[in-house]
Amino acid sequence: MSGHSRDALRWATDAHYEDAERYDRTYRMRRHDVAFYREMAGEHGSPVLELGVGTGRIALALARDGHELVGIERMQPMLAKLRTRLAKEPAEVRERVELVRGDIRSFRLSRRFPLVIAPFNVLMHLYARDELERMLACVRAHLAPRGVFVLDVRMPDLRSFTRDPERAFKCPTLRDPHDGSLWDTAEIFQYDAQTQVQMITSTFREVAPPHRAYVKPLAHRQFFPQELELLLHYNGFAIRDRWGDFERGPQHVDCESQILVARASSRRARGGA
Ligand SMILES: C[S@@+](CC[C@H](N)C(=O)[O-])C[C@H]1O[C@@H](n2cnc3c(N)ncnc32)[C@H](O)[C@@H]1O
Repeated sequence: MSGHSRDALRWATDAHYEDAERYDRTYRMRRHDVAFYREMAGEHGSPVLELGVGTGRIALALARDGHELVGIERMQPMLAKLRTRLAKEPAEVRERVELVRGDIRSFRLSRRFPLVIAPFNVLMHLYARDELERMLACVRAHLAPRGVFVLDVRMPDLRSFTRDPERAFKCPTLRDPHDGSLWDTAEIFQYDAQTQVQMITSTFREVAPPHRAYVKPLAHRQFFPQELELLLHYNGFAIRDRWGDFERGPQHVDCESQILVARASSRRARGGA
């Protein structure tokens, strides 16, 4: 790979998810995709396998609905935060959730699932073809007969790829919901056209003294729609549904997400778990 080395990309991903408290605070109010994944679990049943379960934004909603769920996650701080959240739930909800510290590129669980989900851009942290293919082989090996794999990734935002990487783009001032402090924020975008990895570096500087400051990287592998279809096709999946938003609207150039529902196809998958 040219551009960022694999180590640099892994570092950026880990750095992004090290502060699980901040992740949880930032995204807890993101609800529209939660409603969609609840519908998916209602349609396809459980147990559900969630790849990259994070702090349980989706997992907890499914468990509260009565679904059993196994969540795989690489980052210890994210799992610790999810365990804290789970501890506040009634026993029957807690007992429905099993957490596995592991890597979605290489997992082996002794069960199969009618529904495997990879919500909120999880696949965008797999930067090279071999990583994606290993993950897809694992998913295929864990799908029950007639099971479905549901994922969402961002639709590439072409305008952001051509932004000047030397320039910091100012974002709205943020208020920390915990202590009310105000933060000036900005983003720097670097897109590597060969690897299709976009590095977004967010900077945060407190408006008032003591002017605390920190930087948060985010490395996202970009997927163009036809590329995603080919990747799934050549790894033993067929796309059943494809949407551009969580209300099941069509995909178009300005939609935020690509949401796919795929089944194992009769085509023999490459490799295998
Ligand atoms: C954007 S978060 C999504 C979390 C959760 N699914 C949600 O919707 O809030 C992506 C998660 O995937 C995890 N992740 C990234 N690469 C991973 C890998 N190779 N194996 C396991 N987890 C991974 C990250 O640590 C992070 O918790």
